[in-house]
Amino acid sequence: MCTYIKTGLTRVHLCLNSYLWKSAFTRAMSSRLVLGIETSCDETGAAVMDETGVILGESLHSQKEVHLKTGGIIPTIAQQLHRENIGRVVQEAMERSSIFPSQLSAVATTVKPGLALSLGIGLEFSLSFVKKHQKPFIPIHHMEAHALTVRMLQPVLFPFLVLLVSGGHSLLALARGIDDFLLLGQTLDEAPGDSMDKVARRLSLIKHPRCSTLSGGQAIELLAQDGDRLKFPFRPPMGAHYDCNFSFAGLRNQVTMTIQKKEREEGVEPGTLLSCVNDIAASMQHTVASHIAKRTHRAVLFCKDRGLLPSVNPTLVVSGGVASNQYIRKTLKIVTDATGLHLLCPPSKFCTDNGVMIAWNGVERLREGKGILPYTESINYDPKAPLGVDITSKVKEAAIKVPLLKLRIRD
Ligand code: KG4
Ligand code: ZN
Repeated sequence: MCTYIKTGLTRVHLCLNSYLWKSAFTRAMSSRLVLGIETSCDETGAAVMDETGVILGESLHSQKEVHLKTGGIIPTIAQQLHRENIGRVVQEAMERSSIFPSQLSAVATTVKPGLALSLGIGLEFSLSFVKKHQKPFIPIHHMEAHALTVRMLQPVLFPFLVLLVSGGHSLLALARGIDDFLLLGQTLDEAPGDSMDKVARRLSLIKHPRCSTLSGGQAIELLAQDGDRLKFPFRPPMGAHYDCNFSFAGLRNQVTMTIQKKEREEGVEPGTLLSCVNDIAASMQHTVASHIAKRTHRAVLFCKDRGLLPSVNPTLVVSGGVASNQYIRKTLKIVTDATGLHLLCPPSKFCTDNGVMIAWNGVERLREGKGILPYTESINYDPKAPLGVDITSKVKEAAIKVPLLKLRIRD
């Protein structure tokens, strides 16, 4: 459904090419267009999309390489990099789509949740852009955008269950409409991507020849392929809590203690690559996957019990950076197969942060006429913004026992 137009041509070149120009012009005139801007964490992203979900042009600047070197995201550095790149990224997205700002119907920008300093750059840029071009502004909730991205790729009707797992978030929600979510569970401490990033740093995976450019989660997935997931039997988190909340800090602590023990046994300094690194990666990944699967299984049973999911084609949507992990996807497939749900995961490039998902959320809101502000209205960003109505305590009260599922995953 999505068409990429990455010609790399400037607007002047397109003017000379009458066919390209005409088709871009026709498209732009026949559909409302939204510019989406994302700066909530460490990606500066922009995209122009038409009302049907066709991506006319996009651009993405990732800060990952810088943050890998500094050993994690330093908010002031992230802010500086967003500041340096946002103008170019938006201009590139506009040029690649061959449209002028005057042709836009609205600008949609992530304003919550995220890093305050990063959100601030996207919002400041967007507010001055909409003022200059006198365009409506659509503030976007980052997690809402992750949840809705799948609808850009295929028709998925509400309500559906959604699992969002990334470096900053871990939550389960029922999506009932584009701005109507029931929060079933969320992390009590840190997100799975964050835990894997920290363990990868503790293991110095940046020194590993196969992992030097990978995020922590990607490195763990890669090394786990050659590891024994049963070698280190980490305790699954929150076994005695019959809710849908997550916790990854305790698991990270267990992994760190194992790393320390192994360093002592092998007689090496912290920071040296351990010989059992693949087994640690596989064991951690397996425990993360099992924890996520168990909470998701409980969320499915809760929703079914309350009649919250449709009887025809009930669906679980999984998104966020950690959703690119194939082992975690396969584990979730075992849960959806056992419960009769349809599992949908957008391709990896749409699971991680980008401008496209923000533009799509803008399109969804524009279509329904929801949350569209005049360019004259001022608005603030909000670093901590929960998604939807919190019913996590109701889920806990239900105390649903989840039947044991054998997680036999073949790579
Ligand atoms: O959604 P995202 O791009 O940014 C936010 O956190 O919002 O997700 C990035 C996170 C990082 O923590 C990264 O380590 C993790 O997603 N990640 C993965 C994989 N790819 C990215 N975790 C596990 N397996 C992967 N293949
Ligand atoms: Zn994200």
